[in-house]
Amino acid sequence: MQTNELESIVDSARQAFARAAAPADLENAKALFLGKSGRITELMKGMAALSVDEKKSRGAAINLAKQAIEAALNGRRQALADRELDAQLKAEALDVSLPGRLREPGSVHPVSLTLERIERIFASMGFDVADGPEIESDWHSFTSLNNPPNHPARSMQDTFYVDINGDDGIPYNLRPHTSPMQVRYAHQHIKKHAGKPTMPEIRVIAPGRTYRVDSDATHSPMFHQCEGLWLGENVSFKDLKVVFTDFCRTFFESDDLALRFRPSFFPFTEPSAEIDIQFQTGPLAGRWLEVAGSGQVHPTVVGNMGLDPERYIGFAFGMGPDRLTMLRYGVNDLRLFFDGDIRFLSQFR
Ligand code: PHE
Repeated sequence: MQTNELESIVDSARQAFARAAAPADLENAKALFLGKSGRITELMKGMAALSVDEKKSRGAAINLAKQAIEAALNGRRQALADRELDAQLKAEALDVSLPGRLREPGSVHPVSLTLERIERIFASMGFDVADGPEIESDWHSFTSLNNPPNHPARSMQDTFYVDINGDDGIPYNLRPHTSPMQVRYAHQHIKKHAGKPTMPEIRVIAPGRTYRVDSDATHSPMFHQCEGLWLGENVSFKDLKVVFTDFCRTFFESDDLALRFRPSFFPFTEPSAEIDIQFQTGPLAGRWLEVAGSGQVHPTVVGNMGLDPERYIGFAFGMGPDRLTMLRYGVNDLRLFFDGDIRFLSQFR
């Protein structure tokens, strides 16, 4: 048996190891040479028939070949392991020079901006700001406001109902307007001043969410309203005109804004008026735009507040902050306010 043959085995082992692209391939290649029936193992087995001297020199030569193969194997093992580690490091590499991910600051929702604005303006005119429940009793939403029992506003086509009955056996509703706050707030006010010689005038606004079965470009099933109520012994329609005109001109920052009180009907006010505004300049100039319902609080409602209608008189109004926001910023689709699209909302930052 020639050293040549051993060299060629070592050579082909080196080549086989070099071809192994993954550790598993390498182990398979190893078996071909060092495994139970590998070529080196076979050579060892073949020595049984040799003489003692031959065994010595032959054994030494085979051992050298075996060591060479093992060295090649270990070298390749290391190379494959290095390569794997390299790939892993590369995959997990952190580029510390990349710019960080920006966290954009949030911003106040445009309708909230309007509500804050409304509150600030009315607060400056001595109005309290009150908050009320969005799930209301039938009495507060309708009956206390002088709605007859079969008033269409009560219908399921207009008002959302909750699956829970109130004490009167009638399901609670998602308030379709903020007007229930008139009676609620009056009750709180009376309680607060009970026993005192005089009761201060009621002067309050109540902004908040309201709900109606309605949905298109200018109606959303959830929308906002802001109720206003000024009740005293000597509060007249004239005061309503002054207060609301002042509010609109301040809100829109326009002194030549025109207002129109157009006769209308609400069960809870008499007389009643829709309030329209007209810009003198800008893209909406010349058009009358409805912004609120209003009127002198109906004596029946004053009575339901627990006050004497012969003594207390005043006005109420209900306006739409969503509408005011659309007019102020020139937004033409109400639904944009409630889609939660950051591309729209970030423009109000
Ligand atoms: N609640 C009425 C509406 O939703 C608005 C209104 C409020 C009218 C107060 C008069 C007085 O349309």
